Amino acid sequence: MKVTYIQPDGSEQTVEAKPGDSVMQAAIAANVPGIVAECGGSMACATCHVYVDDAWASRTGTRSESEEDMLDCAMSEMKDSSRLSCQLRLTDEMDGLTVHIPEEQF
Ligand code: FES
Repeated sequence: MKVTYIQPDGSEQTVEAKPGDSVMQAAIAANVPGIVAECGGSMACATCHVYVDDAWASRTGTRSESEEDMLDCAMSEMKDSSRLSCQLRLTDEMDGLTVHIPEEQF
């Protein structure tokens, strides 16, 4: 399956991933710039912040309360579409998912 990451300057990178991976893991494996993931996915840093593309909002579920608390600490503005990419687990229905990378992660 594929995930596309769009940088703040509009450039895109599409990477291969498998169901069960997190959107953060897929980005790190492919060296996608702008996903720092300092805490390694334990929901303790907010440097894996992404904005889910509007077209995918209905397929990515909702963020938990603790995810939202951590997003409050994110460097870039928190929006309705904000997620911690380490908490976004890929499923078959998410093949082709597109996320936007915020301006700053720290
Ligand atoms: S990697 Fe630290 S919160 Fe996602």
